[in-house]
Amino acid sequence: MKDVKVKNNVSMLAKIDWELRHFHGEELSTHKGSSYNAFLIQEEKTVLIDTVWKPFAKEFVDALSRKVDLSKIDFIVANHSEVDHSGSFPELMRHIPDTPIYCTASCERFMRAQYHQNWNFKTVRTGDKLSVGNGKELVFIEASMLHWPDTMFTYLTGDNILFSSDAFGQHFASEMVWADKVDYNVMITEALKYYANIVGPFGPFVIKKIKEMQALNVPIDIICPDHGVLWRENPLQIVETYAKWADQYKENRIAVLYSTMWNGTRIMAENIAKGIQEADPTVDVQIINLAHNDKNDVLTEVFRSKGILLGSATANNNMLGEAAAMLCEIKALKFRGKKAAAFGSYGWSGEAPKLLSEGLKDAGFEVVADPLRASWQPDEAACAQCREFGANFAKAFA
Ligand code: FEO
Repeated sequence: MKDVKVKNNVSMLAKIDWELRHFHGEELSTHKGSSYNAFLIQEEKTVLIDTVWKPFAKEFVDALSRKVDLSKIDFIVANHSEVDHSGSFPELMRHIPDTPIYCTASCERFMRAQYHQNWNFKTVRTGDKLSVGNGKELVFIEASMLHWPDTMFTYLTGDNILFSSDAFGQHFASEMVWADKVDYNVMITEALKYYANIVGPFGPFVIKKIKEMQALNVPIDIICPDHGVLWRENPLQIVETYAKWADQYKENRIAVLYSTMWNGTRIMAENIAKGIQEADPTVDVQIINLAHNDKNDVLTEVFRSKGILLGSATANNNMLGEAAAMLCEIKALKFRGKKAAAFGSYGWSGEAPKLLSEGLKDAGFEVVADPLRASWQPDEAACAQCREFGANFAKAFA
């Protein structure tokens, strides 16, 4: 358990999880591990903000009890009830069952539904305050849908620290504690992957919350997310980055995603990519075989791209499984402001491109071309048609 000073009488007690490779069950890849960050304020009042994931509950409570007499904790703040932050509550509350837990009404509901315990919940709303002594206060800010309905932020006056729950975090294990102490490119790549795969569908809520925070006009010296490293050098940089990501973010990139059986659709993908590059050499084209690439990395690439082309061979009158799964994921992540088109090779009936095209429309993409099909192995004429298809797709952004 990592125990470090954040500022004055505020410290972080975190489990740096170097081993983690999948999160949300097996749903989300975490190539760089993660951390679960809890925070302790020791002013006239002793306050714990959040806990760590259940597998580390005993380790956490042992470390916390070495740091502070548990019976001296005046109250706990639960910014969010997901198990990676609330998972140590059962172990902790065995020791201090009556300690008040401050949280939103939906957080109380979710905690009761998960742990079936009648803990001493105290619900709060935006603007509610609690004194921690020495002239400092905690101010609660509901942050519903960032990324759960129960989420809230907690702001500590005097030290000007924003405890932001999942927002502004990264699945990124580091012993360095601070964003300014790590390899920025590696860390921000993980922050972007985290945003694209977890926070992305709630972009409008992100924009609304950031505007609310700006209107409050309170000084923020440090932002403490519950995962990854903390922000202290120009901490608002990550808020500004979130505002950019939330606003139909796109780079000059096009992703050509495909699922193939005997390489016919792969050959189409490569020729489409070639056509894009010939028409606009400034576009960074990515050719991605869905069977060989990590799903969440692909979704991050979709998030970064201004457009995607999704291809699949046809089997049993349908698209292949990886393409169907990708369609399901991109619909759920509610990408907006992106163009798309579909393609695929076929032997007999060739339904996949049309189904993909309909699926892309349904997922909120602007489909800018009729689906392209090639029968069996694309010959030179079919390859030329693919290059033209790619070129026309590139020109759709002109
Ligand atoms: Fe990191 Fe939504 O929990």
